[in-house]
Amino acid sequence: MGNFYDVIIVGSGIAGLWSGYWLNKLGYSVLIVTKREVFDANSFYAQGGVTLALNREDVPLHIEDTLKAGWFHNNREMVELMSRESLHIRTELKKLGFHFDPGVTREGAHSVDRVFHKGGDATGRELHLFLLQRDPNYLMDNTIVYDILMEEDRVYGVRVVRKGEQFNLYCNHLILASGGIGALYKYDTNARTIAGELQGIAIKKGLPVRDMEMTQFHPTVFIQMEFAQKLLISEAVRGEGGKVVDEKGERFLFKYDPRGELASRDIISRAIYLHQKAGHKVFLDVSHFSEEFFSHRFPTIYKKLRNYGIKVPKQKIPISPAFHYHMGGIEVEPDSRVKGTQNLFAVGEVAYTGVHGANRLASNSLLECFVFGKRVAEGVAGTPLKKVKRDFPVERWLLMREEDKKWKNKLREIMWEKVGIIRNKKGLEEALEFITSARSEVGELTALRFITAKEIVKGALNRHQSLGAHYIETDSTPQNQ
Ligand code: SIN
Repeated sequence: MGNFYDVIIVGSGIAGLWSGYWLNKLGYSVLIVTKREVFDANSFYAQGGVTLALNREDVPLHIEDTLKAGWFHNNREMVELMSRESLHIRTELKKLGFHFDPGVTREGAHSVDRVFHKGGDATGRELHLFLLQRDPNYLMDNTIVYDILMEEDRVYGVRVVRKGEQFNLYCNHLILASGGIGALYKYDTNARTIAGELQGIAIKKGLPVRDMEMTQFHPTVFIQMEFAQKLLISEAVRGEGGKVVDEKGERFLFKYDPRGELASRDIISRAIYLHQKAGHKVFLDVSHFSEEFFSHRFPTIYKKLRNYGIKVPKQKIPISPAFHYHMGGIEVEPDSRVKGTQNLFAVGEVAYTGVHGANRLASNSLLECFVFGKRVAEGVAGTPLKKVKRDFPVERWLLMREEDKKWKNKLREIMWEKVGIIRNKKGLEEALEFITSARSEVGELTALRFITAKEIVKGALNRHQSLGAHYIETDSTPQNQ
């Protein structure tokens, strides 16, 4: 391995692997850089599946469902493009030898069954493994990107640290596919590596970010476990009839939305959060499933919960909302190029394409990775650049300090408490004050997550009206909304 590549991709989830697959087909030399192990990506944990329009007739309905779930805050053209292009994905995967399980399922806010899955609730893991086994590119693991080498609108590479050594890697095109921001929140469903660092670099460089305040909380998460990453209980469980109940067995969601368990995530998360705040305990009741069905349809959830002593399906699952997905991100053009740059691209959760609006429709995230992962390759091919290898000095940065862990944990608490499911101006201002003062206490790598967090808080303060996942209390806010 040298230190110059046609393309460097930061991130080894499905967005990165799918982009890499197409770029390799186009003849580029590609290096995938990943922060820890190659499996430490959100895609690996995606349970529900991939939304694909069932046929041409379903495209307008899928567009409508996506826009409705997103509170029409989406970029309509991007949604149309994503939905139309979803029609080709099954064939592309089939040609490679990947077959979904028979049948499709329903998830919240979809008006028809159109979520394709594999291995029951292991869709992300199966797809990720499948792509990884066929990945033809160079791979560098345990490598953390802490800066982008950039002059004006052109990128030349990245600064990285690997096994304590800091060095530069150079490329003609750089693709960010590094995922979202899970580690900024106390309760989250994301892989342990996902901490919003690349968003922080983008903000430092003055690159455009958008809708940073749009943070999605998944309503049904098992949080009674020691690890920071909590166990997602797929939306598909509700899609197949799982019921949200309180300690008295009441299905209280209907007080908030006539769709009950099949309302959109933002509505259900808020309802559960408020019910818990009012002193109730909340559970997912799956007792109508036979053990045979549940263990086959949801093998990952079944095994993991049993390991934690929850005897599903007979025993109800204690649940809470937890941070799950970031709709905001680095703003890109339809070919996934970061706005205002020549050769920097972003794809997957790190990017803001506008497809998700104010609340992402269930299982549209892997779809976005596939659609825009392919478009990124086309974008790179459409940007022929003369190879310029410019040497940047290797700078030795103080990336982490001894006390960083304490500050990271404090940040997670504050983000959960004050920048979470229900926000208010006072709490946001307190969060901003904490973030601003803590920024100077931490090393340069840790600082990146503080920079990202600050942008989320600033976005939340600037959006005065509630919209989708961003819910802000005002003096006149009724308490059951
Ligand atoms: C789930 O299975 O509920 C998660 C899928 C998604 O995030 O869309």
